[in-house]
Amino acid sequence: MSAAIKEIGVGMLGCGVVGSQVARLLTQDSGDFAARAGAKLSLKRVAVRDLKVKREFIDNSLLTTDAGALVGDPSINIVIEVMGGIEPARELLLKAIKNSKSVITANKALLAKHGAELFEAADKSGVDLYYEAAVGGAIPILRPLRESIVGDHVHRVMGIVNGTTNYILTKMDEAGSDFASALKEAQNLGFAEADPSADVEGLDAAAKAAILAGLAFHTRITINEVSVEGITKISARDIQVARDIDHVIKLLAIAELTEKGEVSVRVQPTLLPRQHPLAAVRNAFNAIFVEAESAGELMFYGRGAGGAPTASAVLGDLIAIARNMTRGGQGHGESDYAELKQADRGSVHTRYLIRLDVNDRPGVLASVAQIFASNKVSIETVRQSGRGDSAELIVMTHSATEGSLSATVGALAKSDSVKSVESVLRVEGAR
Ligand code: HSE
Repeated sequence: MSAAIKEIGVGMLGCGVVGSQVARLLTQDSGDFAARAGAKLSLKRVAVRDLKVKREFIDNSLLTTDAGALVGDPSINIVIEVMGGIEPARELLLKAIKNSKSVITANKALLAKHGAELFEAADKSGVDLYYEAAVGGAIPILRPLRESIVGDHVHRVMGIVNGTTNYILTKMDEAGSDFASALKEAQNLGFAEADPSADVEGLDAAAKAAILAGLAFHTRITINEVSVEGITKISARDIQVARDIDHVIKLLAIAELTEKGEVSVRVQPTLLPRQHPLAAVRNAFNAIFVEAESAGELMFYGRGAGGAPTASAVLGDLIAIARNMTRGGQGHGESDYAELKQADRGSVHTRYLIRLDVNDRPGVLASVAQIFASNKVSIETVRQSGRGDSAELIVMTHSATEGSLSATVGALAKSDSVKSVESVLRVEGAR
């Protein structure tokens, strides 16, 4: 496109909660956006499944059920994908790219699975592929990773990137609720879906973790390389124990470089000290905490979901791409030169909090301590509280490898002194 460009045609795939807000903002603020982009942004077509659904903010004549025609329409220069799901979103975006259209997507599942294919196609066609809304909703985090701190060395990213689980954990922490009732409350208030599995099992966060890790470490990571544990096993007692030691439990997406320069990406419920900045992120809010060599610690906070917040990120991408077009160029892509190896899960170091139900008789503490020692896991503190002929033992370890820890847990589960291993949780943040 030339610098004389007057109008940029926009097509949108999907028109749900986010799409309708994108359409509203595009129509309502068109004058400002034209001034900011350097060309008028015109919504030309919107592909939907059902033409009969009543939609605010959209001229009905723009609606079509023919998404394939939309991505081939010569009057459209930028395609926004807010339909979700893997197919047909993947195929439609590839077609749009092949037809020399820049694309914007909020589809974390698609990017975490097929990102490489889409990035390569965009590079080959010389178009932009932007996706700020895919992680952290309204929070600007991908562009900062890709541009603002690209001159630094990021060594760790820790994020609360799922609002549903953060809402549930906040209720469990503040009201002492158990998981099931906190989930029910979240569903009643519209914070959790009727089928909450992708959120509570950690899969939504895992897709976002893969995207964050790829950008932070200039490498390609897919969701299959993320180890995932959700929050369904977190009990009210786990939350209480965390409180007692001035910690809070958060579902964290963690991407880090190991000492060997390998990358470890995981989603896990994690104890954080209450003074850690991420511990203050309550309810459905998201935040991403970045540790970089020169910048030090950075935190990005905001609304991780919802129509208008997510639309804000989409509009940011739209104007960024439009600016690239009016200047006759392509924007910054991401780099993937590093080709980092995945760290072996067993070699990753963390501190752990282990809660055991044990027999309360002489020698039990010694035999439990011996199991930790023989697996080379160093104990930092032990707390015991009696319950008749049994006792609860809460063991905080020093940093240990996942491999040593799981060997320890295996041996504890088999020990005559231990009635049950009640929970094993990882601990992050400064001591
Ligand atoms: N379901 C997600 C959440 C929002 O609860 O944060 C979309 O990724």
